[in-house]
Amino acid sequence: MTDPKAFDEYAPATSRATCVLHPTQGNEAVKGTITFTQTSGGVLIEASVSGLTPGLHGFHVHEWGDLDCTDGLCTGGHFNPTGDAHGGPDSASRHLGDFGNLEADAYGNAGYRRVDRHIKLQGPHGIIGRGIVVHAAADDFETQPTGNAGARLATGVIGAAKPQ
Ligand code: CU
Ligand code: ZN
Repeated sequence: MTDPKAFDEYAPATSRATCVLHPTQGNEAVKGTITFTQTSGGVLIEASVSGLTPGLHGFHVHEWGDLDCTDGLCTGGHFNPTGDAHGGPDSASRHLGDFGNLEADAYGNAGYRRVDRHIKLQGPHGIIGRGIVVHAAADDFETQPTGNAGARLATGVIGAAKPQ
């Protein structure tokens, strides 16, 4: 599966992906969903997350779509197939998984809507099958390789969505 063409042959042919967040142990209030839609300008990311503390929370694609642990650590590090340094979503150097921060309001609700020109749904840069992590603290876009975003509040698996 190292040949990108061979990978694409087996990847689900869909233009949408979804992710349902599952709280890690001790963070049961955190819930949310993320949708990914292929558009001509990139992948539209739309997220709605609740149960957060007000303020910024690091938000990334991590390497593995593995939820079989209570602390979220089994999702591994940031998804980084290009071997770049950690940054923010608009940084010249960034991990493909660097989505920046969710910003929760006074009620703990966060929305996120951004078109990402670097990630793909399928292929070597494809995010389907990988993990999403929402963190306890803000991503500072500088600290390597994590952004110093702290503990993992919720994780999810990015799945191929049924075509509409
Ligand atoms: Cu993360
Ligand atoms: Zn990163």
